Amino acid sequence: MIGTDISRAKALLEAGLLVAIPTETVYGLAANALNPDAVAAIFQAKNRPHFDPLIIHTSPMERVVDWVEEFPAEARLLARSFWPGPLTLLLPKKAIIPDLVTSGSPRVAIRIPRHPLTQALLESISFPLAAPSANPFGYVSPTTAQHVADQLGDRLAYILDGGPCQVGIESTIVGWEEGRAVIYRKGGIPVEVIEKKIGKVAVKPHSTSRPQAPGMLQSHYATRTPIRISDFQTIKWDTMGTRIGIIAFRQPVSGIPLEYQVVLSHRGDYAEAARNLFAGLRRLDDLNLDLILAELLPEEDLGRAINDRLRRAAAN
Ligand code: TXA
Ligand code: MG
Repeated sequence: MIGTDISRAKALLEAGLLVAIPTETVYGLAANALNPDAVAAIFQAKNRPHFDPLIIHTSPMERVVDWVEEFPAEARLLARSFWPGPLTLLLPKKAIIPDLVTSGSPRVAIRIPRHPLTQALLESISFPLAAPSANPFGYVSPTTAQHVADQLGDRLAYILDGGPCQVGIESTIVGWEEGRAVIYRKGGIPVEVIEKKIGKVAVKPHSTSRPQAPGMLQSHYATRTPIRISDFQTIKWDTMGTRIGIIAFRQPVSGIPLEYQVVLSHRGDYAEAARNLFAGLRRLDDLNLDLILAELLPEEDLGRAINDRLRRAAAN
C-alpha cells in the first residue's frame, strides 16, 4: 500500500490506476493524464467537481513541448529558472491532452516537480501524470504519505512514500493574458522572486465565480474545526471559555496549553513555516477543539502564500 517501489508505481499507472506521488510541494493523486478514464477516477476519488482542472506533471524539460502547443520565451525563462520546482505554467495545450484534464480550457497547467522519486518515475513512463493534491476536495493538502493514507488510502492502488514534503505549500501558478504574466495562485515560489526574473506581475485576487484557478475558490484548505484569523496582540484570552487551538508564526501564546499550539517557525523562517503549515493544521484539527485561531504572517516572501491559505481555511 505505502512504499518506495517506483516500478510498482509505474506498472499501476500504466494499468490506468491511481497512485499518490510525493512532490516537494504536497503529495499528488496521480494518474495517466492521457487516459480519460484514469483522469475521471481522480475526480471521483477526490470528490472533486469537474470544473476544477488538473495540473500535469512531466520530466525532463524536453518533453514539455510534447504536451503544449506554445512555450513562449518568458515561460521558458521561468521554467529554466525554477524547474524542477514549485512553479506551474498555464500554456496552450496540445490536442493529445484530454479536455477532462483542463475542464475544457484551451490551456493546460504543467510543471516539473522536484522530488527524486517522482522525477525518476516520470522519466520511466511515456505519459504525463495528472495530479491534484491528494486530499478530499476542499480539505487541507497532504504533506506526508500518512496524510494521504488517512483520507484516501482505500481509494488508491499505491502510495509512493517520499517522506515529508520539503516546500509544504502548493506550486505558484503563472499564466499569460494578452502577453502579460499573471499569478493565479501564490505558492512555493514567492511573487517577489518571480518578479526578479520577469518584472512586475499581476496577482489575481480570489474569485468565487468562474475562477481562473479554482484553487482560488474562497473557501478551501478547510479543517472540520472552524478557523478564525486573529491578532494575538489584542485578543483577551481570559474571556474565552472554549478549547482553542493556536497557529502562531514565531511564538506560542501564554494561557493556552502548548499541545494545542502550532508554532510555524521559532526563528521566523518563512520556508520552515510553509513546511509546517498543513501538518500543523491537521494536527490541531484531529484534537477536536472548538476553534482554531491563526495569526497572519508579514505580507512578504512565502508569508503571502501562507496567509492566503490561512484566509481561505478561515473563509467557511
Ligand atoms: O504543488 C502543486 O501544484 C500540487 C502538486 C501535487 O503538484 N498540485 C496541486 O493541484 O495543488 P490542485 O489540483 O490541488 O490545484 C491545482 C490548481 C487548481 O486550483 C486548479 O483549478 C488550477 O490549478 N488549474 C489546473 N489546471 C488549470 C487550467 N488549465 N486553467 C486554470 N487553472 C488550472
Ligand atoms: Mg488542492
